[in-house]
Amino acid sequence: MSEFNQFYPCVVPLIGSRYEGKSNFMPAAWQTGLSKDPMTYCVSIAPKRYTHSLIKSSGVFSVNFIDFQYLKLLVRLGSISGRDVDKIKDTGIELKQSLKLDVPVFKSAYAVYECSVQDIVKAGDHDLFIGKILSVYETDEARNESGTINYNAVKPILYLGKDTYAAMDPSSIITIKRDR
Ligand SMILES: Cc1cc2nc3c(=O)[nH]c(=O)nc-3n(C[C@H](O)[C@H](O)[C@H](O)COP(=O)(O)O)c2cc1C
Repeated sequence: MSEFNQFYPCVVPLIGSRYEGKSNFMPAAWQTGLSKDPMTYCVSIAPKRYTHSLIKSSGVFSVNFIDFQYLKLLVRLGSISGRDVDKIKDTGIELKQSLKLDVPVFKSAYAVYECSVQDIVKAGDHDLFIGKILSVYETDEARNESGTINYNAVKPILYLGKDTYAAMDPSSIITIKRDR
């Protein structure tokens, strides 16, 4: 089988890493939440990524959920390696102070996790970084009263594979209560 994209679309956050003063971001589509208590998150990163070595050394990373308006920035961050280019300088990406861990945080993210690495699991040509979420924050507009993300205010970047992206149409959202 040549194509492996049946599980798309996926939201693509920016994974922030920092070690010995060097900060970096890369987009990662292969990521998910794992546990609510404790809040645990997992991202799959190939060993050749600079991000991989920074997180392995520091033991911490940030997850920055960003709006569709930053798609070109995301593509740039996913096209070059922090090993060759200082991506923060190259893109002019603005940072804000993290809350608990020494990780770079994208100022305009609509939601952020700060994670401490709990485990690294080999998964073929990628490694799973399982992180305990020590801090979560969101912009005021990011959440609805009903507790879901406010998709009228924020538009996650959805990756469809093969350099193709989409934004969700909020008019397609429906709520169906489950039988309990
Ligand atoms: C939309 C998109 C999704 C990506 N998802 C992943 C991923 O889940 N895991 C991974 O290892 N690389 C992924 N990449 C590739 C890295 O982001 C890319 O190789 C990046 O330049 C690595 O940067 P670094 O070397 O500075 O860490 C993705 C790239 C794009 C554009």
